[in-house]
Amino acid sequence: MTEGSDTINKNALIDRTGDRFRRSRELKARLQQLVPGGGHTYAKGDDQYPQLAPGLMARGHGAQAVVPESGGYLSLHGIRKEYPGSGGQSTPVLSSIDFEMQTGEFVAFVGASGAGKTTLLKIIAGLLEPTAGRVQLQGRTIAGPPREMVYLSQQYSKSLLPWRTVLKNVEFPLEHRAGISRAERRERAQEALRGVGLAEAANRYPWQLSGGMQQRVTIARALAARPSMLLFDEAFSSVDALTRMELQDLVLDTWQRYALTILLVTHDIDEAIYLSDRVAVLSRSPSRIVETVTTGLSRPRAQIATRANPRFLELRNHLYELVCRPAETP
Ligand SMILES: Nc1ncnc2c1ncn2[C@@H]1O[C@H](COP(=O)(O)OP(=O)(O)OP(=O)(O)O)[C@@H](O)[C@H]1O
Ligand SMILES: [Mg+2]
Repeated sequence: MTEGSDTINKNALIDRTGDRFRRSRELKARLQQLVPGGGHTYAKGDDQYPQLAPGLMARGHGAQAVVPESGGYLSLHGIRKEYPGSGGQSTPVLSSIDFEMQTGEFVAFVGASGAGKTTLLKIIAGLLEPTAGRVQLQGRTIAGPPREMVYLSQQYSKSLLPWRTVLKNVEFPLEHRAGISRAERRERAQEALRGVGLAEAANRYPWQLSGGMQQRVTIARALAARPSMLLFDEAFSSVDALTRMELQDLVLDTWQRYALTILLVTHDIDEAIYLSDRVAVLSRSPSRIVETVTTGLSRPRAQIATRANPRFLELRNHLYELVCRPAETP
Protein backbone atom coordinates (compact mmCIF):
# COMPACT_ATOMS: atom_id res chain seq x y z
CA MET A 1 0.00 0.00 0.00
CA THR A 2 1.06 3.59 -0.53
CA GLU A 3 0.38 6.78 1.33
CA GLY A 4 -2.36 7.51 -1.19
CA SER A 5 -4.41 4.88 0.65
CA ASP A 6 -5.04 7.39 3.44
CA THR A 7 -6.85 9.63 0.97
CA ILE A 8 -8.73 6.70 -0.51
CA ASN A 9 -9.89 5.57 2.94
CA LYS A 10 -10.93 9.10 3.79
CA ASN A 11 -12.95 9.43 0.57
CA ALA A 12 -14.58 6.09 1.20
CA LEU A 13 -15.68 7.29 4.61
CA ILE A 14 -17.09 10.48 3.13
CA ASP A 15 -19.00 8.52 0.46
CA ARG A 16 -20.75 6.45 3.08
CA THR A 17 -22.12 9.33 5.10
CA GLY A 18 -25.06 11.66 4.65
CA ASP A 19 -25.28 15.43 4.56
CA ARG A 20 -22.23 17.62 4.66
CA PHE A 21 -22.22 18.48 8.35
CA ARG A 22 -22.79 14.94 9.50
CA ARG A 23 -20.24 13.75 6.97
CA SER A 24 -17.56 15.96 8.43
CA ARG A 25 -18.40 15.01 12.05
CA GLU A 26 -18.51 11.32 11.35
CA LEU A 27 -15.30 11.38 9.38
CA LYS A 28 -13.54 13.20 12.16
CA ALA A 29 -14.89 10.91 14.87
CA ARG A 30 -13.90 7.84 12.88
CA LEU A 31 -10.48 9.21 12.15
CA GLN A 32 -10.09 9.86 15.84
CA GLN A 33 -10.95 6.23 16.53
CA LEU A 34 -8.58 4.99 13.88
CA VAL A 35 -5.84 7.40 14.79
CA PRO A 36 -6.42 9.20 18.10
CA GLY A 37 -5.79 12.89 17.61
CA GLY A 38 -6.54 12.47 13.90
CA GLY A 39 -9.94 14.06 13.82
CA HIS A 40 -11.35 16.81 15.91
CA THR A 41 -14.99 17.63 16.25
CA TYR A 42 -15.95 20.78 17.99
CA ALA A 43 -18.99 21.97 19.77
CA LYS A 44 -20.40 25.34 18.81
CA GLY A 45 -18.07 28.12 19.97
CA ASP A 46 -15.08 25.83 20.15
CA ASP A 47 -12.93 28.30 18.30
CA GLN A 48 -12.24 29.65 21.76
CA TYR A 49 -10.31 26.51 22.60
CA PRO A 50 -6.61 27.21 22.82
CA GLN A 51 -4.68 26.29 19.68
CA LEU A 52 -1.64 25.42 21.72
CA ALA A 53 -2.56 23.49 24.79
CA PRO A 54 -1.15 24.67 28.12
CA GLY A 55 0.13 21.14 28.52
CA LEU A 56 3.06 21.91 26.29
CA MET A 57 4.57 24.20 28.84
CA ALA A 58 6.81 22.30 31.17
CA ARG A 59 6.14 22.15 34.89
CA GLY A 60 8.54 23.96 37.09
CA HIS A 61 9.60 26.49 34.46
CA GLY A 62 7.26 29.22 35.45
CA ALA A 63 4.46 28.06 33.15
CA GLN A 64 0.96 27.82 34.55
CA ALA A 65 -1.69 25.41 33.38
CA VAL A 66 -5.08 26.94 32.66
CA VAL A 67 -7.24 26.74 35.75
CA PRO A 68 -10.97 26.57 35.14
CA GLU A 69 -13.00 29.43 36.56
CA SER A 70 -15.23 27.09 38.49
CA GLY A 71 -15.73 23.36 38.85
CA GLY A 72 -13.23 20.79 37.68
CA TYR A 73 -11.24 20.58 34.48
CA LEU A 74 -13.24 17.51 33.52
CA SER A 75 -16.67 16.76 34.96
CA LEU A 76 -18.90 13.75 34.46
CA HIS A 77 -22.54 14.32 35.28
CA GLY A 78 -24.89 11.35 35.66
CA ILE A 79 -23.32 9.31 32.86
CA ARG A 80 -25.44 6.29 31.96
CA LYS A 81 -24.94 3.92 29.07
CA GLU A 82 -27.12 1.15 27.74
CA TYR A 83 -26.23 -0.96 24.73
CA PRO A 84 -29.02 -2.40 22.59
CA GLY A 85 -29.37 -6.09 23.35
CA SER A 86 -31.12 -8.99 21.71
CA GLY A 87 -34.92 -9.04 21.52
CA GLY A 88 -35.18 -5.26 21.72
CA GLN A 89 -33.97 -5.18 25.32
CA SER A 90 -31.15 -2.92 26.26
CA THR A 91 -28.23 -3.85 28.51
CA PRO A 92 -27.18 -1.27 31.08
CA VAL A 93 -23.40 -0.98 31.36
CA LEU A 94 -22.87 2.28 33.26
CA SER A 95 -25.49 3.11 35.84
CA SER A 96 -24.78 6.67 36.95
CA ILE A 97 -21.29 8.10 37.01
CA ASP A 98 -20.46 11.46 38.55
CA PHE A 99 -16.85 12.53 38.80
CA GLU A 100 -14.65 15.59 38.71
CA MET A 101 -10.98 16.00 37.83
CA GLN A 102 -8.76 19.01 38.34
CA THR A 103 -6.18 20.37 35.92
CA GLY A 104 -2.92 18.44 36.11
CA GLU A 105 -4.34 15.50 38.06
CA PHE A 106 -3.44 11.90 37.34
CA VAL A 107 -6.49 9.72 37.98
CA ALA A 108 -7.03 6.00 37.43
CA PHE A 109 -10.35 4.18 37.14
CA VAL A 110 -10.08 0.53 38.10
CA GLY A 111 -12.65 -2.17 37.57
CA ALA A 112 -13.04 -5.80 36.63
CA SER A 113 -13.11 -6.91 33.01
CA GLY A 114 -16.46 -5.95 31.49
CA ALA A 115 -17.13 -3.27 34.12
CA GLY A 116 -17.48 -0.68 31.36
CA LYS A 117 -14.08 1.04 31.52
CA THR A 118 -13.60 1.32 27.76
CA THR A 119 -17.21 2.41 27.35
CA LEU A 120 -16.72 5.17 29.90
CA LEU A 121 -13.43 6.34 28.42
CA LYS A 122 -14.90 6.48 24.91
CA ILE A 123 -17.79 8.57 26.22
CA ILE A 124 -15.32 10.94 27.90
CA ALA A 125 -13.31 11.13 24.67
CA GLY A 126 -16.45 12.11 22.76
CA LEU A 127 -16.34 8.94 20.65
CA LEU A 128 -19.50 7.43 22.07
CA GLU A 129 -22.72 9.09 23.15
CA PRO A 130 -24.01 8.38 26.64
CA THR A 131 -27.61 7.27 27.01
CA ALA A 132 -27.96 9.97 29.66
CA GLY A 133 -25.74 12.54 31.32
CA ARG A 134 -22.98 14.76 29.99
CA VAL A 135 -19.23 15.26 29.97
CA GLN A 136 -17.87 18.75 30.48
CA LEU A 137 -14.39 19.94 29.71
CA GLN A 138 -13.56 23.26 31.29
CA GLY A 139 -17.26 23.88 31.76
CA ARG A 140 -18.22 23.07 28.16
CA THR A 141 -20.28 20.05 27.23
CA ILE A 142 -18.41 17.74 24.88
CA ALA A 143 -20.14 17.09 21.54
CA GLY A 144 -17.37 15.10 19.83
CA PRO A 145 -13.64 14.47 20.29
CA PRO A 146 -12.20 17.71 21.69
CA ARG A 147 -8.88 18.98 20.44
CA GLU A 148 -7.35 19.05 23.92
CA MET A 149 -7.83 15.34 24.49
CA VAL A 150 -6.21 12.32 22.94
CA TYR A 151 -7.61 8.86 23.55
CA LEU A 152 -5.05 6.05 23.45
CA SER A 153 -6.85 2.88 22.57
CA GLN A 154 -6.60 -0.48 24.31
CA GLN A 155 -5.59 -1.93 20.93
CA TYR A 156 -2.82 0.51 20.28
CA SER A 157 -0.90 -1.53 17.72
CA LYS A 158 -3.97 -1.63 15.48
CA SER A 159 -4.07 2.14 15.44
CA LEU A 160 -0.67 2.40 13.71
CA LEU A 161 -0.69 2.50 9.92
CA PRO A 162 1.64 -0.31 8.81
CA TRP A 163 2.45 1.23 5.46
CA ARG A 164 3.74 4.44 7.05
CA THR A 165 7.05 4.94 8.80
CA VAL A 166 7.11 5.80 12.49
CA LEU A 167 7.67 9.47 11.66
CA LYS A 168 4.82 9.50 9.14
CA ASN A 169 2.54 7.80 11.68
CA VAL A 170 3.27 10.50 14.22
CA GLU A 171 2.68 13.20 11.61
CA PHE A 172 -0.60 11.71 10.42
CA PRO A 173 -3.09 13.45 12.76
CA LEU A 174 -1.47 16.80 12.03
CA GLU A 175 -2.10 16.37 8.31
CA HIS A 176 -5.79 16.81 9.04
CA ARG A 177 -5.34 19.99 10.99
CA ALA A 178 -5.55 23.35 9.33
CA GLY A 179 -2.75 25.86 9.76
CA ILE A 180 0.16 23.50 10.35
CA SER A 181 2.84 23.63 7.69
CA ARG A 182 4.69 20.57 6.51
CA ALA A 183 7.87 21.82 8.22
CA GLU A 184 6.10 22.37 11.53
CA ARG A 185 4.46 18.98 11.28
CA ARG A 186 7.83 17.35 10.78
CA GLU A 187 9.39 19.31 13.62
CA ARG A 188 6.60 18.46 16.06
CA ALA A 189 6.76 14.78 15.15
CA GLN A 190 10.52 14.64 15.56
CA GLU A 191 10.32 16.43 18.90
CA ALA A 192 7.63 14.02 20.12
CA LEU A 193 9.71 11.04 19.03
CA ARG A 194 12.71 12.41 20.90
CA GLY A 195 10.45 12.83 23.94
CA VAL A 196 9.67 9.11 24.01
CA GLY A 197 13.23 8.03 23.17
CA LEU A 198 12.46 6.92 19.63
CA ALA A 199 14.34 9.45 17.50
CA GLU A 200 16.46 6.66 16.05
CA ALA A 201 13.42 4.68 14.93
CA ALA A 202 11.82 7.48 12.90
CA ASN A 203 12.33 5.79 9.53
CA ARG A 204 11.36 2.29 10.57
CA TYR A 205 7.92 0.76 10.11
CA PRO A 206 5.62 -0.21 13.02
CA TRP A 207 5.99 -3.91 12.25
CA GLN A 208 9.75 -3.58 12.72
CA LEU A 209 9.26 -2.46 16.34
CA SER A 210 8.63 -4.29 19.61
CA GLY A 211 5.24 -3.95 21.33
CA GLY A 212 6.69 -1.47 23.83
CA MET A 213 8.19 0.64 21.04
CA GLN A 214 4.88 0.65 19.19
CA GLN A 215 3.21 1.90 22.31
CA ARG A 216 5.82 4.66 22.53
CA VAL A 217 4.94 5.65 18.97
CA THR A 218 1.29 6.06 19.93
CA ILE A 219 2.34 8.22 22.87
CA ALA A 220 4.54 10.33 20.57
CA ARG A 221 1.66 10.67 18.12
CA ALA A 222 -0.56 11.85 20.95
CA LEU A 223 2.05 14.38 22.12
CA ALA A 224 2.54 15.76 18.61
CA ALA A 225 -1.12 16.80 18.67
CA ARG A 226 -0.24 18.93 21.73
CA PRO A 227 -3.09 17.87 23.97
CA SER A 228 -3.61 18.95 27.54
CA MET A 229 -5.29 15.68 28.49
CA LEU A 230 -4.49 12.05 27.69
CA LEU A 231 -6.92 9.17 28.14
CA PHE A 232 -5.22 5.79 28.41
CA ASP A 233 -7.25 2.61 28.00
CA GLU A 234 -5.33 -0.35 29.49
CA ALA A 235 -2.32 1.26 27.95
CA PHE A 236 0.26 -1.35 28.82
CA SER A 237 -1.69 -4.58 28.88
CA SER A 238 0.00 -6.41 26.03
CA VAL A 239 3.67 -5.91 26.89
CA ASP A 240 5.94 -7.86 29.23
CA ALA A 241 6.31 -6.83 32.88
CA LEU A 242 9.61 -4.97 32.49
CA THR A 243 8.46 -3.03 29.43
CA ARG A 244 5.28 -2.23 31.29
CA MET A 245 7.25 -0.63 34.11
CA GLU A 246 9.36 1.36 31.64
CA LEU A 247 6.20 2.61 29.92
CA GLN A 248 4.65 3.55 33.27
CA ASP A 249 7.71 5.65 34.06
CA LEU A 250 7.65 7.17 30.60
CA VAL A 251 4.02 8.18 31.12
CA LEU A 252 4.84 9.71 34.52
CA ASP A 253 7.76 11.59 33.01
CA THR A 254 5.62 12.81 30.10
CA TRP A 255 2.84 13.85 32.46
CA GLN A 256 5.25 15.99 34.44
CA ARG A 257 7.26 17.40 31.56
CA TYR A 258 4.23 18.47 29.56
CA ALA A 259 2.01 19.35 32.54
CA LEU A 260 -0.75 17.04 31.31
CA THR A 261 -3.96 15.89 32.93
CA ILE A 262 -4.19 12.11 32.65
CA LEU A 263 -7.07 9.68 33.08
CA LEU A 264 -6.18 6.01 32.80
CA VAL A 265 -8.46 3.01 33.03
CA THR A 266 -7.02 -0.33 34.03
CA HIS A 267 -7.81 -3.56 35.80
CA ASP A 268 -4.29 -3.52 37.27
CA ILE A 269 -4.64 -2.15 40.79
CA ASP A 270 -0.88 -1.88 41.43
CA GLU A 271 -0.44 0.16 38.27
CA ALA A 272 -3.31 2.46 39.23
CA ILE A 273 -1.79 3.14 42.66
CA TYR A 274 1.75 3.54 41.33
CA LEU A 275 0.76 6.18 38.78
CA SER A 276 -2.12 8.11 40.24
CA ASP A 277 -3.09 10.87 42.62
CA ARG A 278 -6.54 9.32 42.99
CA VAL A 279 -8.01 5.94 42.15
CA ALA A 280 -11.74 5.56 41.48
CA VAL A 281 -13.19 2.06 41.77
CA LEU A 282 -15.91 0.94 39.39
CA SER A 283 -18.32 -1.75 40.54
CA ARG A 284 -19.19 -4.61 38.24
CA SER A 285 -21.53 -3.75 35.38
CA PRO A 286 -23.87 -1.86 35.39
CA SER A 287 -21.14 0.07 37.09
CA ARG A 288 -20.98 3.05 39.33
CA ILE A 289 -18.12 4.52 41.31
CA VAL A 290 -18.07 2.74 44.65
CA GLU A 291 -15.19 4.69 46.16
CA THR A 292 -12.49 7.18 45.23
CA VAL A 293 -9.22 6.92 47.11
CA THR A 294 -6.46 9.53 47.29
CA THR A 295 -3.18 7.65 47.11
CA GLY A 296 -1.16 10.21 49.07
CA LEU A 297 2.13 8.71 47.87
CA SER A 298 5.00 11.14 47.40
CA ARG A 299 6.45 11.97 43.99
CA PRO A 300 8.63 11.25 42.14
CA ARG A 301 7.59 7.63 42.28
CA ALA A 302 10.11 4.81 42.00
CA GLN A 303 9.17 1.30 40.93
CA ILE A 304 10.78 -0.50 43.86
CA ALA A 305 10.60 2.04 46.69
CA THR A 306 7.02 3.20 46.02
CA ARG A 307 5.70 -0.33 45.74
CA ALA A 308 7.40 -1.24 49.04
CA ASN A 309 5.82 1.69 50.88
CA PRO A 310 3.41 0.44 53.61
CA ARG A 311 0.80 2.92 52.32
CA PHE A 312 1.02 1.27 48.88
CA LEU A 313 0.30 -2.13 50.42
CA GLU A 314 -2.55 -0.78 52.49
CA LEU A 315 -4.14 0.78 49.40
CA ARG A 316 -3.61 -2.37 47.42
CA ASN A 317 -5.49 -4.53 49.96
CA HIS A 318 -8.33 -2.06 50.22
CA LEU A 319 -8.74 -1.64 46.46
CA TYR A 320 -8.55 -5.37 45.75
CA GLU A 321 -11.36 -5.92 48.19
CA LEU A 322 -13.50 -3.29 46.45
CA VAL A 323 -12.78 -4.45 42.88
CA CYS A 324 -13.33 -8.13 43.64
CA ARG A 325 -16.67 -7.58 45.36
CA PRO A 326 -19.39 -9.62 43.68
CA ALA A 327 -21.98 -7.76 41.61
CA GLU A 328 -24.80 -6.26 43.61
CA THR A 329 -28.16 -7.91 43.12
CA PRO A 330 -30.82 -5.44 42.08
N1 LIG B 1 -20.76 -1.89 21.12
C1 LIG B 1 -21.26 -2.68 22.06
N2 LIG B 1 -22.49 -3.21 21.95
C2 LIG B 1 -23.02 -3.98 22.91
N3 LIG B 1 -22.40 -4.26 24.08
C3 LIG B 1 -21.17 -3.75 24.25
C4 LIG B 1 -20.53 -2.94 23.26
N4 LIG B 1 -19.31 -2.57 23.73
C5 LIG B 1 -19.19 -3.13 24.93
N5 LIG B 1 -20.31 -3.84 25.26
C6 LIG B 1 -20.55 -4.56 26.50
O1 LIG B 1 -20.44 -3.62 27.56
C7 LIG B 1 -19.80 -4.21 28.68
C8 LIG B 1 -18.60 -3.36 29.08
O2 LIG B 1 -17.65 -3.40 28.02
P1 LIG B 1 -16.29 -2.56 28.10
O3 LIG B 1 -15.49 -2.92 26.91
O4 LIG B 1 -16.61 -1.13 28.31
O5 LIG B 1 -15.66 -3.17 29.44
P2 LIG B 1 -14.18 -3.03 30.02
O6 LIG B 1 -14.32 -2.72 31.46
O7 LIG B 1 -13.40 -2.09 29.19
O8 LIG B 1 -13.61 -4.51 29.85
P3 LIG B 1 -12.07 -5.00 29.66
O9 LIG B 1 -11.41 -4.82 31.00
O10 LIG B 1 -12.21 -6.45 29.30
O11 LIG B 1 -11.46 -4.18 28.58
C9 LIG B 1 -19.44 -5.62 28.27
O12 LIG B 1 -20.42 -6.51 28.77
C10 LIG B 1 -19.49 -5.60 26.77
O13 LIG B 1 -19.86 -6.84 26.24
MG1 LIG C 1 -11.70 -2.27 28.02
